[in-house]
Amino acid sequence: RTLRIGLIPGDGIGREVIPAGRRVLESLPSSLNLNFSFVDLDAGFETFKKTGTALPDKTVDTLKKECDGALFGAVSSPSTSVAGYSSPIVALRKKLDLFANVRPVKTTVGSSNGKPIDLVIVRENTEDLYVKEERTVEGPNGKVAEAIKRISERASSRISTIAGEIALRRQNIRAAAPGVSTRSQPMVTITHKSNVLSQTDGLFRETARKALAAEKFSSVLVEEQIVDSMVYKLFRQPEYYDVIVAPNLYGDILSDGAAALVGSLGLVPSANVGDGFAIGEPCHGSAPDIEGKGVANPIATLRSVALMLEFLGEENAAAKIYTAVDANLDEGKFLSPDMGGKATTQQVLDDVLKRL
Ligand code: NAI
Ligand code: MG
Repeated sequence: RTLRIGLIPGDGIGREVIPAGRRVLESLPSSLNLNFSFVDLDAGFETFKKTGTALPDKTVDTLKKECDGALFGAVSSPSTSVAGYSSPIVALRKKLDLFANVRPVKTTVGSSNGKPIDLVIVRENTEDLYVKEERTVEGPNGKVAEAIKRISERASSRISTIAGEIALRRQNIRAAAPGVSTRSQPMVTITHKSNVLSQTDGLFRETARKALAAEKFSSVLVEEQIVDSMVYKLFRQPEYYDVIVAPNLYGDILSDGAAALVGSLGLVPSANVGDGFAIGEPCHGSAPDIEGKGVANPIATLRSVALMLEFLGEENAAAKIYTAVDANLDEGKFLSPDMGGKATTQQVLDDVLKRL
């Protein structure tokens, strides 16, 4: 099988870590019978300065027409608003209907100060308060601002179904790449606040319950947690969780919070997922403070590559990358400066490639 992958390095260290992601794909064992072709695509602030748009039509068209998946580095956003500039990744998620944002948070045995964590947050990405339907009215006691929180059955159902599928797949990957986890049964935790928002979050909760009651998820343990106590437990007992599914706003907050549980932003991957398409994207930004020094940690990107492969149906290839990355971190000989080591991007990559 040959997969065509769009490479969108973007700005700053995106240009240093995305080539590392490409190298890992090119270095997968030939026994997997998996080949790749690549197409370089533009997006980001540099592109905006050159062409007047942060997301050229050609990038979107090529992804839609030619590609099976993509890797996205990072983009710089101007700190003051610049006329005509808007975030290309937000636009891409819309244009390709990438309705799920998937963010695994994992520590390995050797690298963590506490118990190993291996969880994934699955965030709905198209609705909730982020539909941005806000208004401000002038009342007798001053201004009043309001926003619509929109929750639909369709979006809640598809995000819950994908969460269930991720839980099942993680079980397979644990079997193929025995790591730190001793979890015996996959689990999905539905996060909501339906005790207060009985209609919106109530619909999310009810729909998620229904979706996860499907026959194919009979081996998945389904539980739920009110979002505020979820935050408490996530920090007290992160090792308890497997897959957490949440509406857009709660998912946004939970996923950034959970990223703080591991040592460095340079470790945390994500994927933007739609029907039959996935973009792997490290969670960090363009890191102007270390740009051009060759020391950016490539691990977040390498894990994002593996995550993309999972959603393209290549679990075995993904498991190989996860195992190689975990071994690099466990051994701790080639760690980048953000992890307290001295290795360059290239040295971390070489160590992972050797293990592959
Ligand atoms: P950042 O994630 O770029 O950097 C935060 C800190 O983490 C910096 O000290 C940086 O050196 C370090 N860091 C991040 N990734 C690293 C890696 N792979 N290896 C080693 N150290 C790493 O966030 P910041 O500084 O707030 O934003 C910088 C620019 O990136 C801004 O223009 C911002 O808008 C943009 N940004 C873009 C994102 C995206 O494309 N998804 C996400 C976050 C920020
Ligand atoms: Mg966020």
